[in-house]
Amino acid sequence: MCGIIGATSSCSDVVPLLIRGLQRLEYRGYDSVGVAVVSGGLVTVRKGAGELEVVRRRLAIDGMSGTTGIGHTRWATHGPPNDVNAHPHTDCTGTVAIVHNGVIRNYASLREELIAKGHRIRSETDTELVAHLIEEGLGEGRDFVEALARALMRVEGTYAFAILNSREPDRVYFAKNRSPLLVGVGDKVKVVASDLPAMLEAAKDVIFLEDGEFGYVTPTEVAIYRLTKDGYAKLSDAEVASRVRRVNLTPEAASKGGYPHFMVKEIYEQPQAVRDTYEGNIDDPALAKVSSALAGASKVIVVAAGTSYHAGLVFSYLLARRAGLLPHAIISSEAPYLMNAVEEGDLVVAVSQSGETYDTLEAVRMAKDLGAIVVGVTNVLGSALDRISDLKLYTRAGPEIGVAATKTFLSQVMLLELLSIRAGVDSGRLKPSEAKELLDALREVPQLLTYTLEASDPVATALSKSVAGGSMYVLGRGLGSAIAREGALKVKEIAYLHAEAYPAGESKHGPIALVERGFPVFIAATSDAREVAGNAVEMAARGARVYVVKPADLSLDLEAKETITRIDMPPSSGTLELEPFILTPVFQLFAYRFAVGKGYNPDKPRNLAKTVTVE
Ligand code: F6R
Repeated sequence: MCGIIGATSSCSDVVPLLIRGLQRLEYRGYDSVGVAVVSGGLVTVRKGAGELEVVRRRLAIDGMSGTTGIGHTRWATHGPPNDVNAHPHTDCTGTVAIVHNGVIRNYASLREELIAKGHRIRSETDTELVAHLIEEGLGEGRDFVEALARALMRVEGTYAFAILNSREPDRVYFAKNRSPLLVGVGDKVKVVASDLPAMLEAAKDVIFLEDGEFGYVTPTEVAIYRLTKDGYAKLSDAEVASRVRRVNLTPEAASKGGYPHFMVKEIYEQPQAVRDTYEGNIDDPALAKVSSALAGASKVIVVAAGTSYHAGLVFSYLLARRAGLLPHAIISSEAPYLMNAVEEGDLVVAVSQSGETYDTLEAVRMAKDLGAIVVGVTNVLGSALDRISDLKLYTRAGPEIGVAATKTFLSQVMLLELLSIRAGVDSGRLKPSEAKELLDALREVPQLLTYTLEASDPVATALSKSVAGGSMYVLGRGLGSAIAREGALKVKEIAYLHAEAYPAGESKHGPIALVERGFPVFIAATSDAREVAGNAVEMAARGARVYVVKPADLSLDLEAKETITRIDMPPSSGTLELEPFILTPVFQLFAYRFAVGKGYNPDKPRNLAKTVTVE
């Protein structure tokens, strides 16, 4: 995920501060780096693809100087990682330089409009467009605050911006909407940054900006404005002063966002990850293209490994339900043995967060050789899968550092749900009004996930203490069976417990033989398959200790038995698409809390690699 920093000082060069800030943002993961300073009435930018230390040497970033500057670590979302797409971006005149974290949803239409107006757009990024929008306002004779406000009113999506301009050499402008952004209030220096570690060295007094706020800092001043329905209003000095909080954290403690491990940080980043995925795809013409390719395909085949395969299963259930399509979901490493059936006219949807998984890439190469069209669904722009695919869709989860896939899973689910809804409309099975209702519900998922995480963590902590080691089943029916598989995988790889997932109906055909008094059985209950209650009761009748994880408003015909525990999560109102988001976190957190309780390292589970690039 991109990291941004900006600083302005009354007495010293800010470049060393920016570089140290960028070093502290490195943990977020990035592919490119850049710095801009304003000095002598000129904006100077140095930026490039690669690691900070390499780009810093290659472009002599340490040789830059200025008392006002901005810096950026980029995680590509629009346009591959290269020198041109690296931030900061400037307008046509070189007056404005901007860095950004987030995704601008109406990027395609803004780009067209600005090109028609004669702007020279150099990069493929969404960010650069905002520099040109500001340029428009300045060109109409507006002051910077006004020009920025007008630009923000045109932009849809998520953003944290830091911006400088050559006309006001002691100001860093900023704006925030649904991407994190803080202002650090030091004595003779003010900082804006996307997270605490980047700024704590310069300022321990911090203002946490709210969505819809923008403004500027000078070495001695913080000005905050709020966008309103019909314009914007300035916050009073007293209001700004009342927002300042003292932060008693060292930069070290604040890296990993203050969380002890990347895994739990990433679990808690899920609301943002799914929001960015929603915003980045909902209006993307690529989604419509893939949907019509689905409709026109002779066969639809989904290939993926591990967690991505589970997202592929969610897709299969929803595509069947909403669009009447029955895709074949294949585990990538099994694909070579089934690929004989692939032929021209087929569509292969390959899902991989890294875009580098060997087995998935092999399956894709084979499918292409056989004449199939390949849709790549990945979190990493410029990855091998991205490059090889005919059609491309991106999750916007930001880099995932913990080995276990968490936020990338729910981001894949979000993206594939958007696709299945679109395919539903194209197939004529889903009315546009029904699709709209589903999309409106999905837009609220970030909030729903926040509640779900709040509800899940205490339950997961309690379970991590009460569930003894050994084996367990995780069962589900319908969509719940895909969620159960993902839950069991998290428990296996992080808690090192033998968790076996089964479609609940299938459990009668063998697995139930293992069940004896006290055997833990988790059930992921979804609204498409209330019959799962019967399986819970069967298990309890054989002495199992059954935990039914369900939306609170899903009524199930469960006996009031001491051995059956209902774990009620936020309600779904029967909207199946919401249920993966409601039911998955408790398994992620249970695995995490259990591992931590046992002293295992959840970020680097034994024997596992983040990206499996071998056969
Ligand atoms: C599980 C996990 C792995 C990956 C699998 C595929 O937590 O991380 O099972 O899901 O190796 O990786 P990608 O999605 O990068 O192809």
